[in-house]
Amino acid sequence: MLRLPLLLLAVMIPGGDNEDGIQGPTSYHVIQISTFANSTWAQNQGSGWLDDLQIHGWDSDSGTAIFLKPWSKGNFSDEEVTEIVDLFRVYLTGFIHEVQDQVGKFQLEYPFVIQGRAGCELHPGKAISSTLRGALGGLDFVSIRNNSCVPAPEGGSKAQQFCALITQYKGICDIIETLLSKTCPRYLLGVLDAGKAELQRQVKPEAWLSSGPTPGPGRLLLVCHVSGFYPKPVWVMWMRGEREQPGTRRGDILPNADWTWYLRVTLEVAAGEASGLSCRVKHSSLGGRDIILYWGHPTSIILIALAIIVPSLILLICLALWYWRRWSYQSIL
Ligand SMILES: *[C@@H]1O[C@H](CO)[C@@H](O)[C@H](O)[C@H]1NC(C)=O
Ligand SMILES: *[C@@H]1O[C@H](CO)[C@@H](O)[C@H](O)[C@H]1NC(C)=O
Ligand SMILES: *[C@@H]1O[C@H](CO)[C@@H](O)[C@H](O)[C@H]1NC(C)=O
Repeated sequence: MLRLPLLLLAVMIPGGDNEDGIQGPTSYHVIQISTFANSTWAQNQGSGWLDDLQIHGWDSDSGTAIFLKPWSKGNFSDEEVTEIVDLFRVYLTGFIHEVQDQVGKFQLEYPFVIQGRAGCELHPGKAISSTLRGALGGLDFVSIRNNSCVPAPEGGSKAQQFCALITQYKGICDIIETLLSKTCPRYLLGVLDAGKAELQRQVKPEAWLSSGPTPGPGRLLLVCHVSGFYPKPVWVMWMRGEREQPGTRRGDILPNADWTWYLRVTLEVAAGEASGLSCRVKHSSLGGRDIILYWGHPTSIILIALAIIVPSLILLICLALWYWRRWSYQSIL
C-alpha cells in the first residue's frame, strides 16, 4: 500500500533525487522589475535566484549587487563578478532611459511595469538550456529563443514592433546571447558546487495540528501545519488509516526566513467524523519514517486536564475530611 505513494512521490518531485543524482536547485535566473510611475519617476528592482532560493539582491540606489550567501559568487573571480555587475548597472540605467524615450512610439501609458526573467537550467543528462522572457503590465510580451526574439501573442503589435527594433541592435543581442548561453551555464555549475553543503542539506519538518475557522454548523476544518523542512518537495495528506482523504486541500508552500519551507494542508469534515483521521507527512529528510499525527487533541487535552484535576480534587477532599474530623473531635472534647 505504501509503495504507491512513495513511487508517486519520486515521480512528482523534480528537484528530488533523480537518476543523475542532481539534488536541490537546478536553475539560476535573474529577475528585473522596472516600474515607471510617470515621465520623471522610474525604479529598477533586481534579484538572483537558484530555483526559488534568493542568492542575489540589487541595491538600485548605488547600482551594486548584494551577495546574500558567502558562496553567491560561485567560482567566478572578483574581477569577473565586477565586470558583470558593471554590465548590469549600465544596462539597468540605460533600460530606464531607453524605455522613457520610447513611451510615445510604443504608445505606453503611465504607470506601467516591465518584468524580465533570464537564466539557465540544468537538465538530467547535464544539458543546459537558457531562457529570457519579458512581460509588460503582467502579460507575456516577448521571449528570446535560440538567439531570436519571439513576440508573445498577448503582446500584440507592440511586441512585434519591439522584436523588429531589438534585432537592429546587433551588439546588445550578442551580449545577451553570450550571457545566456555561455556565462550562465558556467556560473550555474560553479555556484551549485560552491553552495552544495547548504543547497543539498536535509532539514526535517515539524508538524502540528490545529482547527481552522468553523466552515459551518456541525463542521470542522482540520489544519495540518508542516514547517521548517528543506528541500521543498514534500507530501502531506489527511488519512483515515491507509486511505487518503480526497477532500484534502493543499496550500502554497511558503518560505520561512531561514531557507526552509512551510505548508498548510486542510480537510473539512463533519464534527462527528474527525476522530480516527491523521495527517501524514513524507519528506526526503525523514528517510521513510513518515510523521503521522492523529486528530485527537481535544481528548488528549481532556485527559491531561483530568490527570491534573482528579488527584488535586482527591487531595482537597482528604484535607477537608481531616479538618472536619479534627474539628468534630475537638468540639466533642
Ligand atoms: C511621479 O511619481 C512619483 C512616485 O509616485 C511621485 O512622487 C511624483 O510626484 C510624480 N511626479 C509627477 C510629475 O507626477
Ligand atoms: C536553433 O538554431 C539552430 C541553428 O541556428 C538550429 O539548428 C536549431 O534547430 C534551432 N533549435 C530550435 C529549437 O529552434
Ligand atoms: C567554474 O566551474 C565551471 C563548471 O565546473 C567551469 O566550467 C568553469 O571553468 C569554472 N571557472 C570559471 C571561472 O568559470
